[in-house]
Amino acid sequence: MKFRKTNHLKGEVTIPGDKSISHRAVMFGALSKGKTEVSNFLQGADCLSTIDCFRRLGIEIENRPDLITIHGKGLDGLSAPAGILDAGNSGTTTRLLSGILAAQPFETTLTGDASIQKRPMLRIIEPLSMMGAHIESLGGNNCAPLKITGAPLKGIHYYPKVISAQVKSAILLAGLYADSPTSVTELAISRNHSELMLRTFGADVRTEGTTATVFPRPALQGQKIRVPGDISSAAYFIAAGLLVPGADILIRNVGINPTRNGILKVAEAMGGNITLLNENKEGEPTADLHVTCSPLHGTVIEGDMIPTLIDELPVIAVMAAAAEGATIIKDAAELRVKESNRIDVMVENLSAMGCDITGTEDGMIIRGHHPSDRLLHGAVIHAHDDHRIAMSFAVASLIAEGETEITDSKCVAISYPDFYDDLRKLCGN
Ligand code: S3P
Repeated sequence: MKFRKTNHLKGEVTIPGDKSISHRAVMFGALSKGKTEVSNFLQGADCLSTIDCFRRLGIEIENRPDLITIHGKGLDGLSAPAGILDAGNSGTTTRLLSGILAAQPFETTLTGDASIQKRPMLRIIEPLSMMGAHIESLGGNNCAPLKITGAPLKGIHYYPKVISAQVKSAILLAGLYADSPTSVTELAISRNHSELMLRTFGADVRTEGTTATVFPRPALQGQKIRVPGDISSAAYFIAAGLLVPGADILIRNVGINPTRNGILKVAEAMGGNITLLNENKEGEPTADLHVTCSPLHGTVIEGDMIPTLIDELPVIAVMAAAAEGATIIKDAAELRVKESNRIDVMVENLSAMGCDITGTEDGMIIRGHHPSDRLLHGAVIHAHDDHRIAMSFAVASLIAEGETEITDSKCVAISYPDFYDDLRKLCGN
């Protein structure tokens, strides 16, 4: 797909449902008794992979455009699937489902696409094995396909080396089936959607500092869940709104959970003008974001802030490319094991657009240009089939001289199927 520079970005966009929360609503609904109704569910390929896996585990799920209905059967209601479960491109499906499968009285094989088969799974194999499950990486490389043989589990207190909500959630989900409480203490807090939503379904989940503890065998009950808009999808419009000259946009229905809203803090630190409107603080908090074009300057992004904006770092790098002075991103080695190696892929593509960027072991250094002197130019971009890379470069193209072509632009369907339409509308065409 081809893109051109614009000086027009105006109007409103309503952000589709949060990917992390959509996955969890289906999973927790399946493990609850009775009906769970989910509105504003993200109809992205990743969440559809979760629906497909749970259908194959014996759960009836109706998928209508405005409402997902899950006919849950309780903690012991899953049945052995015929054949291999396919998580597609979804790390959340693979890792969280592994935690659930670890406790089932049957054996399952779980795999996914070429990207999933390269992503590290030792981070869940290790703690789930400590709890008593048997998990074999069939390729012997600690990646999927994983053969998971469920077993009676024991509670553990685990201290993951990586800060990952997928790891934390896999352990807590296994902990629902354990013989005693299960705790996870993180080095810094990762997104807490599992803890919040498990509580909504009736689980006893306690949190203190960076420790989350789940008590076993809750009687989970079906719920009505309204999924807030995904701040990780809103991020592309936040960046575009700050960068495109004269931009003035309203981004509606954005989840602003404090474990996810790091991009708002970074945008503010860079000089971005974002106003929160219509804030709703109940449950998962939401707001509308009013964003106007702002001159940006470089900043340092590191430490505990990283997990709160991990998926937004590619588009933050684009913001940095058009900011005055250097932006330094550290403590983000996890970027190397996402859907693509996001450090290498950002360096490859931003360099192709004329940006001065250096990749480091755990981040990037981006030496931006003065906003009045935006020096990015169009290029052929290879997103490496990574949805967040494709959307980041669609944003970069809006401020780049000449034409930008994204060769594998279709991958946005993973998390935001209507992304290009929504962007085009704001650009007035
Ligand atoms: C997610 C957690 C994050 C994030 C991913 C979704 C989740 O991954 O990058 O897109 O839904 O829990 P990690 O937990 O591996 O950091």
